[in-house]
Amino acid sequence: FVDPVLTFVGQRQSSQSLTASIQEFQQKVLPAQVYASLPAPFNGGTFLWGYAIGNRPPSYPGCTIEAGRGYPMTILYSNNLPVSTSSQVAPRLTVDQTIHWADPLNQMNMMMTDPYKGYYPTVTHLHGAEVPSAFDGGPEQWFTRNGLRGQAYATYASTPPNTAIYWYPNTQEATTLWMHDHALGMTRLNVFSGLAAFYLLRDQYDSGQSNNPLGLPAGAQEIELMIQDRQFDTQGQLLFPDGTPTVNPTGLNGPPPNPQAHPYWIPEFFGDTIVVNGKSWPYLNVEPRRYRFRLLNGSNARFYRLHMVDSTQGTPGPALWQIGTDGSLLDSPVQLSSDPLSSNSLLLAPAERADLIIDFSGLNGRNFTLTNDAPAPYPDGNDPDPATTGKIMQFRVGTSLSSPDNTYNPASGAALRGSSRNQPPALVRLANPQQGNLASGVTPSLTRQLILVENEGLGGPLEVLVNNTKWTGLREGTQTPIPGSQPIALPKPEYLTEIPRTGSTEVWEIINLTEDAHPIHIHLIQFQLINRQQFDKDAYFAAYSSLFPGGTYTGVMPDGTLGPMTYPPGVYIPGYGPPRTYTTPNSGGAIGGNPDVKPYLQGSIIPPDPNEAGWKDTIKIYPNQVSRLVMRWAPTALAVSAVHPGENHYVFDPTIGPGYVWHCHILDHEDNEMMRPYIPVR
Ligand code: C2O
Ligand code: CU
Repeated sequence: FVDPVLTFVGQRQSSQSLTASIQEFQQKVLPAQVYASLPAPFNGGTFLWGYAIGNRPPSYPGCTIEAGRGYPMTILYSNNLPVSTSSQVAPRLTVDQTIHWADPLNQMNMMMTDPYKGYYPTVTHLHGAEVPSAFDGGPEQWFTRNGLRGQAYATYASTPPNTAIYWYPNTQEATTLWMHDHALGMTRLNVFSGLAAFYLLRDQYDSGQSNNPLGLPAGAQEIELMIQDRQFDTQGQLLFPDGTPTVNPTGLNGPPPNPQAHPYWIPEFFGDTIVVNGKSWPYLNVEPRRYRFRLLNGSNARFYRLHMVDSTQGTPGPALWQIGTDGSLLDSPVQLSSDPLSSNSLLLAPAERADLIIDFSGLNGRNFTLTNDAPAPYPDGNDPDPATTGKIMQFRVGTSLSSPDNTYNPASGAALRGSSRNQPPALVRLANPQQGNLASGVTPSLTRQLILVENEGLGGPLEVLVNNTKWTGLREGTQTPIPGSQPIALPKPEYLTEIPRTGSTEVWEIINLTEDAHPIHIHLIQFQLINRQQFDKDAYFAAYSSLFPGGTYTGVMPDGTLGPMTYPPGVYIPGYGPPRTYTTPNSGGAIGGNPDVKPYLQGSIIPPDPNEAGWKDTIKIYPNQVSRLVMRWAPTALAVSAVHPGENHYVFDPTIGPGYVWHCHILDHEDNEMMRPYIPVR
């Protein structure tokens, strides 16, 4: 714990009209002495990609944006990344042309193992936000510095070719959002390079001011913490393993498991260095009082199970009180244990957020380490090394108070919502968390069964799929999602499967047939977890083996040319189909060709953990379980014109535009087919 953690207290950008330049820069992520002995240009720091937001220089993570509920915001994103050359200095990441990716030079027919020599595609998604799909920053909405664009790229007319202007309605509840890159097949590299930032949505209750009605810690006592794992080479530069021996000297993640199909892709990136807010293993000086921390797991693939432990004695430190989830405050605070032996821990999967209060009062002069004991991959992978990935950061408690602490005390158990005029209304209950049932009065119009499968090659996964189907294009036809803009041409809805009706309520039963937990994220909406339930995976597979025949498809051969690739029987649908179409609403069984899990369910339902009983946009789907989500396809942003009439560019209609996506937020999975488009319709 050498360096202090970077914070954005006092620097957050809150204008309703912001610029965000995406560019390369250097930052000292590792301790300064690491860089001091290196030759130029590496002595200047690690080369990164990041956002320069508003009047702030580029940083990793980007400077936090603060927005107010009901006050729309526009952000002009500009891509100022350098061109890729074979002598490229940094970040020295191999663009993987062998997976389905943005491919700005349209090189699908060339030797795809050749190095990419063009400008890098990027596009920014505001994770967890209810926004029109033209501004969702989805995988096909990328653009390059020299004006090449993905097929769903949309912006206002007459913006410069390397830019896009996105309009965010900010009508949903106050919460912790974050923005990050989402370019097709490049997300894991672009986010790894530094393209991520917090976006705090405020409202009258959670105003961020010291006089906020809830009394939450604010000012210097409200700190966002982005936790990531990274790997560095001997020159202090980012190292993303891609199987090239010279580029992967540590072999930490091993070579790609199926080099004949994927010479570069590895199933999950796990770094050996923990970075918080762009600093390796930092510390934070705190006063003996309450703090509010906005935690985000911004890692590619690593889960964190977090505890606060006395740095010298190893005994449990102060409790972690969770007050908010991905999408809003909880009804009441939830106490999580700091005892590593307790099962009541804070487990954060990639992209999940936890709004926490930690009370350091009475702990004067003590140091606490935030530790991690989550196996990687989760849950059955390797335990973290206590000396490296097993520790996150340190909190050093001082002995004096700069002012008395009159903030909300979570140990009082006082409601955070719903009991007085000083609090936001109680959560809209779609699910009853204690009982693991739907709330009374909630009747789904459709229950979808959706499977998660891993397509295995000889050495391990070849790709991972949601709904047993690969990534595909979006809707068909020509559209002008933004009045006055250039129309965008959208491709055929090849095998579009999730087509929810706006205003309807749906239950999604996500059936995990893989060995690992996957954080599943659905764009546009916040949903609720109803429950989880075990099922007999082996019996399920045995019963439906004919539906997973294996097959042959066109892939990259060892010499770099295209040729037939034969997949072993098991979980696979050859090529890009056949479609898993939904024909009829279903009252209990499987829809659209996904085999029904019902006969194989085991044991009783498992209610959500208390700290999952709020709005979620990313949810852990554990192996051998079905996880049931309930969602209303009625984003509050639909009401934007009622909030601030006259301020809107147009009324938000989610059925217009290129549509949305749902996917696994393990970025290495998302980049290799574990993502599907969806389009809400009227
Ligand atoms: Cu955080 Cu589709 O992404
Ligand atoms: Cu996954």
